[in-house]
This record gives sequence, structure tokens and C-alpha cells, in this order.
Amino acid sequence: MTDRTAKLTIEDKDFELPIFSPTAGPDVVDIRKLYAQAGVFTYDPGFTSTASCDSTITFIDGDKGELLHRGYPIDQLAASSHYLEVCYLLLYGELPSAAQLEDFESRVTKHTMLHEQMVYFFRGFRRDAHPMAIMTGVVGAMSAFYHDSTDISDPWQREVASIRLVAKMPTIAAWAYKYSIGQPLVYPRNDMDYASNFLRMCFSVPAEEYEVNPILSRAMDRIFTLHADHEQNASTSTVRLASSSGANPFACIAAGIACLWGPAHGGANQACLEMLREIGTPDRIPEFIARAKDKSDPFRLMGFGHRVYKNFDPRAKVMKQSADEVLDLLGVEDNPILQVAKELEEAALADPYFTDKKLFPNVDFYSGIILEAMGFPTSMFTPIFAVSRTVGWISQWKEMIEDPAMKIGRPRQLYKGATMRDYVDIEKR
Ligand code: CMC
Repeated sequence: MTDRTAKLTIEDKDFELPIFSPTAGPDVVDIRKLYAQAGVFTYDPGFTSTASCDSTITFIDGDKGELLHRGYPIDQLAASSHYLEVCYLLLYGELPSAAQLEDFESRVTKHTMLHEQMVYFFRGFRRDAHPMAIMTGVVGAMSAFYHDSTDISDPWQREVASIRLVAKMPTIAAWAYKYSIGQPLVYPRNDMDYASNFLRMCFSVPAEEYEVNPILSRAMDRIFTLHADHEQNASTSTVRLASSSGANPFACIAAGIACLWGPAHGGANQACLEMLREIGTPDRIPEFIARAKDKSDPFRLMGFGHRVYKNFDPRAKVMKQSADEVLDLLGVEDNPILQVAKELEEAALADPYFTDKKLFPNVDFYSGIILEAMGFPTSMFTPIFAVSRTVGWISQWKEMIEDPAMKIGRPRQLYKGATMRDYVDIEKR
């Protein structure tokens, strides 16, 4: 509990509001009893000043450009750890011992296959469906197949659902891709690591086995790691809100995938590469910078800006480095898109519009360049983000369900519509 309070004065009445101190980050004023005591709501569309939950999973200091998972900095995890170890850390709170990691990896590996009847779900989509549309539908449909992991009150079922989602998501994303390009679905292999298995499911065809390059597999794993969790972002908040009603985990993660798809969130990686292609050559950069600054033009620099990071996005730093490494490895010299990206970043960072508003490249600015160099079409960029973020959604979902104080999420509103009036018959309107 807390002995510090904030005083709120409304007209001539004072109200004492408890202040909580977090382990890191700004203090939090507890307004839960405000309506009962003062009869007023607070107003914060976009949740710019509102903590929607307490959490021990991920911490971001936007001013310092710091991202910690269970206390460990993302750059250290990206350099020294790997995705499944980070998954363990997010799900269970501590880095695993060697035996714990081996057991976890084996459990994930054994759940990578999908129920064979789920193939019919894929077949039900139009052949040119966006893989995100397929993923939203198929993940939601998992609740129709895995009845033994939908009872959220049973810790064992919650655990099985968590492992299933982390394990099956690469298979679902790869199959959504294969289906959308009319190629046969490739089944997962238990002797491959998580990232290599995903690359193989995406790029192998029956006529030709895909040789996984270990450096590309490492780059893929790093992309997964960098996107694994990001505290209470829009899709995670969607998952939490959906699960607050007691909905099953597959339905909640499907809701998260739907939210992630938007271009202001996970869809920005696809939108960013499309923008870089549209710019095409460095000489057109000033034209696009001018459009981004023009309030009458809805265009924004995609891959730029962040609600929380106001200095730099630590994930973007690692991603930029990775882009150089991957293109180098693939022998891609003078990649025109990378050139445009670098010059665009430089031009924006020299422009007071962007620096004054603290707009910097975010994780999505360079990720598309790497993914394209690996052979992925732009439509697969957001599905890959969804694969990576699944563990974050699930960890936050588990944390929420395990909290005995969990309540249904039910925001209030500032109503500005008509007050009560009598119905008018149609002939009198
Ligand atoms: N290009 C041009 N102007 C921008 C941009 C941009 N990318 N981003 C923000 N601004 C301006 C905006 O017009 C506003 O100006 P003013 O104060 O004069 O009205 C100001 O900066 C603040 O913007 P905001 O929209 O109020 O900020 P927000 O915190 O609500 O939005 C954002 C954050 C990420 C949605 C936004 O920066 C954006 O749309 N960026 C482009 C899309 C993008 O790259 N999204 C990926 C985010 S990181 C990965 C993820 O979370 O999924």
C-alpha cells in the first residue's frame, strides 16, 4: 500500500487519491474510487496518461530509449540470448537453467503441428487473401479445435494454450503465406530450431529443399526477439481487454492480431517498405518530408515516431545494424531501398519538425529491408510481427488471469450526444 496521496479539488471539495510508486517509471495516481467518491470520470482518449494495469513483465523508459524484459535490456537479449529463451523469460519471469530451457524448447517443438482438419480453414479463404486476414481467422478457429486448453480457470490448460500458441504461430503464418501464393503447405520439422523451421516452412517446396543459412536464421531469430513484447501497446491492450471478459485465449490472441494489423501499429512495417519503394530515389526525399509535415496531407513517415519513445527506439538501433549485416551476407551491394532509408532518416533527423516533436525511426523502419532481403513479400511483414508478439500477448494474458483482482475492462465516456427526446413517427420527420 501507500501513504502518499494526491489532492484533487473539484469546486470546493477536496479528494485524497493514493499515489503508488512503481519499481521504475513515473508514480501512479490511483483514481479507482474517484467516481464513487466524487461522481466524476477522468478523460484520457488514447490512454496517454493512464496505466491500465500493473505488470512485472516489460518496462520502457521512453526518454532514455530503454526497453527491459523482466529487467534485462533488449540489446543484451538481442546480442546474447535467443527467441525461445526470451519467450521463457517473458512467460515465467526468470532466465531458464539449461535443463529448463531444454524442456521448454522440447515442449514448444512438440506442439508445432496443426490439427490436420485446420487445413480446410486455410482452403476457405480466397487465394489472394492477405496472410493477416488468414491468421486472424485461423487463430480464432483454434478454439474450435483445442477444447482441452480453453478453460481459463485451469492453470494446466492455460499453460498448454500458451505453449500451443507460441509453437503453432509460425506454422500458421507460413501456411497463410504458402496458401496465398498457391504453393503446397510445408509441415514443421522437430529437428530444427524455431527460426530455421519457420524459414523452411515459408521457402521450401516439394521440388526443392530450402537450405537454411544459419546467419539468416540468426537474423530471423533476432527479429522475433526484438518484437517479443512491448508492454501495454494497442494489440496487447486489446488482448487484455478481450480476456477481461473471460474469453478463451485463442479468441483473445485473434483480437490482438486484428489490432496489430493497423498501419499505426504492426502494419507499419509493410507500409514503411511500400513508402520507401514509392520514394524510390534519394532525390525524392524532400518531397516526402514536405508531405509528412503538411497538416492537410494525411501522409506520415511510416516507421517514424512512437507514443512512448521520445529519444530513440532501442530496437531500431539493433535492426539497423542487422540490416547492414544481412545485406552484406547476401552480397546485396548498394541496395537502393536501404540507401533511401538511410538518407531519409538523416534528412528527417536534421529537420526541426521531427526533432522538436521527438520523432525518430522505430522498430519498423529497418525491419522490412531485412525481411525483403530474406525473400519475404511485404504482405508477410506484419504476420512475422504477429508470430513474434504472440509470446508477449500470452505472457500479459497469463499475468492478468492469474491476478485475483482482475476485473472486466469497462471504460466510461464523455457523452456529447443528444439528451433524451421522444421518438418521432417517420411521416412526421
Ligand atoms: N510523420 C509525420 N508526423 C508525425 C509522425 C510521422 N510518422 N508521427 C507523429 N507525427 C506528428 C503528428 O502529426 C503530431 O503532430 P502535431 O502535434 O503537430 O499534431 C505529433 O507528431 C504527435 O503525433 P501523434 O499522432 O499525436 O502521436 P501518437 O503517440 O498518438 O502516435 C504513432 C504514435 C506511432 C502512431 C505515430 O508516430 C505514427 O503514426 N507513426 C507512423 C506509423 C508507425 O511507424 N507506427 C509504428 C509504431 S512502432 C511499432 C508498433 O508499435 O507497432
